[in-house]
Amino acid sequence: MGINIIHTIFFFSLLIFSSPITCLDIDLGIDLGPILSPLPLIPDLLNFADQRLAIIYPIIQTFKNIITSDPLGITKTWVGSDLCKYAGFYCGTPPDNDTATVIASIDFNGFGLSAPTLDGFLDQLPDLAIFHANSNNFTGTISPKIANLRYLFELDLSNNNLVGTFPTAVLSMTSLSFLDIRFNSFAGVVPPHIFMQTLDFLFLNDNNFAQTLPQTIGSTSAAYLTLANNMFTGPIPRSIGNANSTLREILLLNNLLTGCLPYELGLLKEAVVFDAGNNLLTGPLPCSLGCLRKIEVLNFAGNLLYGKIPEQICAVGSLVNFSLFDNYFTSVGPECRKMIKSRVLDVRKNCIRGLPEQRSAEECASFFLKPRSCSHPSSFTFMPCEVQPSSESDGDPPVRRRTKRKLVSYAALSRHRLML
Ligand SMILES: *[C@@H]1O[C@H](CO)[C@@H](O)[C@H](O)[C@H]1NC(C)=O
Ligand SMILES: *[C@@H]1O[C@H](CO)[C@@H](O)[C@H](O)[C@H]1NC(C)=O
Ligand SMILES: *[C@@H]1O[C@H](CO)[C@@H](O)[C@H](O)[C@H]1NC(C)=O
Ligand SMILES: *[C@@H]1O[C@H](CO)[C@@H](O)[C@H](O)[C@H]1NC(C)=O
Repeated sequence: MGINIIHTIFFFSLLIFSSPITCLDIDLGIDLGPILSPLPLIPDLLNFADQRLAIIYPIIQTFKNIITSDPLGITKTWVGSDLCKYAGFYCGTPPDNDTATVIASIDFNGFGLSAPTLDGFLDQLPDLAIFHANSNNFTGTISPKIANLRYLFELDLSNNNLVGTFPTAVLSMTSLSFLDIRFNSFAGVVPPHIFMQTLDFLFLNDNNFAQTLPQTIGSTSAAYLTLANNMFTGPIPRSIGNANSTLREILLLNNLLTGCLPYELGLLKEAVVFDAGNNLLTGPLPCSLGCLRKIEVLNFAGNLLYGKIPEQICAVGSLVNFSLFDNYFTSVGPECRKMIKSRVLDVRKNCIRGLPEQRSAEECASFFLKPRSCSHPSSFTFMPCEVQPSSESDGDPPVRRRTKRKLVSYAALSRHRLML
């Protein structure tokens, strides 16, 4: 599934990004003389390859005029009628007319442009399929008018200084598949409907979103979902299990999540990364996590979890990093001890007697002084899959396959553009 998504994106991007060649091949019939002459560039004196480019010309020029900083001198290239040659702009053929030439893609990644707003620009590019603007300094809010971008497939506004609420206009953009608004200052709530949209990638990390996780989260079709470094509160909804056939990587780390873990996490059979580190989660680990047969990274470090570490989880052969650092676990069985030895499982700063680098007896005692329990206690031992044969008898640790494929979502935790 995930691979297909990546292929789809790649194929689509290839189509778009190969388009400048097509564009250059078109005889534009333009005399570039006027550009070099001292005559002012008046749009109707220029020849455009397509009527739709003529309409976009003044929009780009108006945007150019509000750019306050352009450290790489990008906008110097935004002159004349050949829009397909402007740095950052890529021409292509729109889905509705295969003889037309339009601005199909914009890639401003890393240009460092400063502008007080994208209004009047982004929302006025009706044929745009891809807008990538990672690591610029665009400020202001996102206009509801971006809903006009009927072909928009990838929207990357990451690492800017955008403010306001979540850009709800994206909810009506049915062709959108990739939404990346991480590293901005969006605040308020993420509309629950975003999880019902057919997105493959949803990156919301490093904003100021503050709300309980909505029940709709399980309806997400995203394979990659990052909610890290916000102020999400409340428990992880049981509905998460409904994402069982799609969700590959989910980052919930550094939020304010509370409550006990739902056994439904163990239904996420496609999960490769599940990271809920540094929250306020409590209770035992559900044994069902031992059903995650593809899991490579499982992180619950920095929570308030306790009890025995389920042996079923430690038997999962695909795990390469299982961190329970900084919790209140009290015991480990033989399978997990093997994992500690092979440095896959980190249990430092817990309450496990006899192991090194544990909390003090006083600290553990004061934690357990407060009565703690979870509802549905039997759900913590429920295994929603066939139990794997234990390797205990032969004493050999499971063979760990460290896959060559790189994990996608952790890259989203750095400000830079993603290389998918
Ligand atoms: C398609 O685009 C071409 C080039 O701009 C134009 O001449 C033609 O009229 C358009 N066709 C339709 C059906 O709009
Ligand atoms: C971004 O823009 C704001 C306001 O226009 C300005 O104060 C700030 O210095 C800019 N930051 C960078 C890194 O250019
Ligand atoms: C998987 O999710 C679907 C909904 O997406 C749900 O109908 C189904 O019951 C789930 N399967 C399991 C085993 O939970
Ligand atoms: C394992 O995960 C923890 C928690 O995210 C991280 O701090 C640590 O660096 C990771 N270890 C390795 C070897 O990747």
